[in-house]
Amino acid sequence: MAKFFSCFFMAIALLSSAQLCLCSKSYGGYLYPQFYDRSCPRAQEIVESVVAKAVAKEPRMAASLLRLHFHDCFVKGCDASILLDSSGSISSEKRSNPNRNSARGFEVIDEIKAALEVECPHTVSCADILALAARDSTVLAGGPNWEVPLGRRDSIGNSLSGSNNNIPAPNNTFQTILTKFKLQGLDLVDLVALSGSHTIGNARCVSFRQRLYNQTGNSLPDYTLDQSYAAELRTKCPKSGGDQTLFHLDFVSPTRFDNSYFKNLLAYKGLLSSDQVLVTKSAASLQLVKAYAENNELFFQHFAKSMVKMGNISPLTSFSGEIRKNCRKINHY
Ligand code: HEM
Repeated sequence: MAKFFSCFFMAIALLSSAQLCLCSKSYGGYLYPQFYDRSCPRAQEIVESVVAKAVAKEPRMAASLLRLHFHDCFVKGCDASILLDSSGSISSEKRSNPNRNSARGFEVIDEIKAALEVECPHTVSCADILALAARDSTVLAGGPNWEVPLGRRDSIGNSLSGSNNNIPAPNNTFQTILTKFKLQGLDLVDLVALSGSHTIGNARCVSFRQRLYNQTGNSLPDYTLDQSYAAELRTKCPKSGGDQTLFHLDFVSPTRFDNSYFKNLLAYKGLLSSDQVLVTKSAASLQLVKAYAENNELFFQHFAKSMVKMGNISPLTSFSGEIRKNCRKINHY
C-alpha cells in the first residue's frame, strides 16, 4: 500500500513538473505577460507613455533604452543590476568599459519607476521596466512588437567585472562575440538578429577608430570597410581627439528600426568591427545577414523571438531578489 502511494505521488509530481515545463516552453522560464494584470493593470500603459514622451523629445532615446536591457541581461541575468548606483559595497556597472560615457536613459527609467510607485507601490520591478521599455522603444522606432514575459525581480547586488567581461566589445573577434552570446544561452541566430538593434542609435569615434587608421597612424588597414565611407568617417574621427563624437550606427536610416543595417553590412558599411565581422568571418552568419537584408519581415520575427529569449536570461523570480522602490538603490539603503 505504502509503495502504491509513493508511486502515486511520484506520478503527480512528474505531471506537475511536466506542466511547469510547458509553461516555461511557452513563455520562457516562469515569466508570463499577464504577471501584473491584477496587481498593476495599468503598468504597461504607464511605461509606454513615459517612453513615448522621452522618444518624442529625443528619438535616440529609443536606442539607448533598448541597449540598457541588453547590458542588464548579460550581467547576472535580467535583474536591473545595471541601474544600481555606487554605494556601500556596490561599485556601479555604470562605470564599466561598455557603459562608461555611453550607457544612457537612466533618468527615463527613474521617471517610469516614480510613476509606477504612485500607481501601485512596491509592485513593478525595475528589471521588468527595462524589458518593457526595450520593447516599447523598438515599436516606437518602427520595429516589431511582441508580448513581454514579466515577473522578474530586482537584484540586491551587481557585478562590475561581469559588465566588463560578459558584454561583447566592438573590437572582439567574431568567435569571442559568439562565445559570449553562447555563455548566455543565445545562439548564432540570436547574435545576428539582435545585432540588428544597430539599425538605430549612435556610437562614439573611440568605439571604431582603430578601423580607420593602422598602428603607424596611416590610413587604411581595414579592407572590410568601404574606402569612401572610411574616408568620410576619418574627417570627423581623427587619429587623436574627438573621442566622444557621435556617429550613426546605421547611416541610411539612423532613427528608423528597419533592415537597412544588414544592407549596409553587405556593402561593407558597418560602423563597428563587431558589425562587419557578421559578414566577413562566418558563412552561416553571412547567410543570415543576407536573409534579413532581403526580408524585413523575417528580421522582425527573429528579432522579437530573440528579444524574448534574451529577456529570459537568469531572471530572479518568486522569493529571490526584491522589488526596488528606487531603481538606483537596493531597499535597505
Ligand atoms: C553583438 C555584440 C555587440 C557589440 C560588440 C556592441 C557594441 C556596441 C557599441 C560599441 C556601441 C556604441 C557605444 C558608444 O560608442 O557609446 C553600441 C551601441 C548600441 N548597441 Fe550594441 N553591441 C552589440 C550588440 C547589441 C545588442 C544585442 C543590442 C540590443 C539588443 C545592442 C543595442 C545597441 C544600441 C541600440 C546602441 C545605440 C545606443 C545609443 O545610441 O544610445 N547592441 N553597441
